[in-house]
Amino acid sequence: MPDSAPEASAVPGGPVLPRVMAIETSCDETAVAIVAGGSVLASEIASQVQLHQPYGGVVPEVASRSHLTQLKPLIGRAVEAAGIGLEQIDIFAATSGPGLATSLMLGVSTAKGLALGFGKPYIAVNHLEGHLLSPFFGTGREAEPCIGLIVSGGHTLLVKVEGVGNYKLLGRTRDDAAGEAFDKAGKLLKLPYPAGPHIDRLAVGGSRDRFDFPRSMIHSGDFNFSFSGLKTSLRYLLPKLEGESIHDICASFQEAIVDVLVRKTLDAAKSERLRIIAVSGGVSCNTRLRERFRQACDESGIELLLADPRLCTDNAAMIAHVAARRFRSGEFSALDVDIDPNLALV
Ligand code: KG4
Ligand code: ZN
Repeated sequence: MPDSAPEASAVPGGPVLPRVMAIETSCDETAVAIVAGGSVLASEIASQVQLHQPYGGVVPEVASRSHLTQLKPLIGRAVEAAGIGLEQIDIFAATSGPGLATSLMLGVSTAKGLALGFGKPYIAVNHLEGHLLSPFFGTGREAEPCIGLIVSGGHTLLVKVEGVGNYKLLGRTRDDAAGEAFDKAGKLLKLPYPAGPHIDRLAVGGSRDRFDFPRSMIHSGDFNFSFSGLKTSLRYLLPKLEGESIHDICASFQEAIVDVLVRKTLDAAKSERLRIIAVSGGVSCNTRLRERFRQACDESGIELLLADPRLCTDNAAMIAHVAARRFRSGEFSALDVDIDPNLALV
């Protein structure tokens, strides 16, 4: 808990340090955070991983029931950790999309209710923008022109960032997201869900070229991706194996995903003549992805911004940071702005 919370001044246009409470319930993490002036005063996350593990994926009904029971205690824990009262919050924010409809609705209605009850503004935030800008949080820098790669369980997007709120989509996956490729491989390998962190760990010390997994679309000449062929390739490979090392399988599989992500992102930076790459989303926790991006960016003289691992997987601090920026530019959301499960970044 911080000794004392920063002073807040929520006057649009003035020197502002608003205290923002954000709620994130787009998928299988219930998260509540309080940020002020770039500092995270509280970031509480209740993971539902254990609840969904028996099903090998996220069950929407299970997710929304758990958000419902977790939200109130998490809000209590967040204000306690921040050492402030709810009445001292200046802005209430929530993820309004993309995500699971019933889950989004719970977070959004809670934030709207708090805003209404305490007579404070409400700001709706796009989950993808939270991920996209997360590498800048804690650096003291505003979002600068860069190539943003978002790699999560639901999305793989390459974005040209001109500044906050000014984005151009360069490419996306045509089928599975990078995180989905890890998770589907994990199912075939009988690893717990979500499998990304397990494959990351099992790949350590394994041979990265023992198996030749496809690098689909690596030379496609555009910035789109395709990862669905990987699980098919693994499915055909597995019955042929006898006593092969799980470490080699994981290392080779992971290398195929990393190769494509690094190559296309560097190509995008060259083609757009941008000197900063910002990588975010759950898959950006991956040890090998971080290592390969560091090497490639060093060699190309490109600055690499990687989200803090605590900000890579779903969290509410990244939502609060975006809301604080919106507030600084005087952008609020009306209370009748609805959720949008298919909300696009651009
Ligand atoms: O950003 P996130 O928490 O949720 C979405 O918005 O989807 O990302 C979750 C995804 C899962 O697919 C998970 O397997 C993957 O991120 N992931 C990883 C690692 N940690 C999480 N994938 C590879 N290596 C990791 N260390
Ligand atoms: Zn996410």
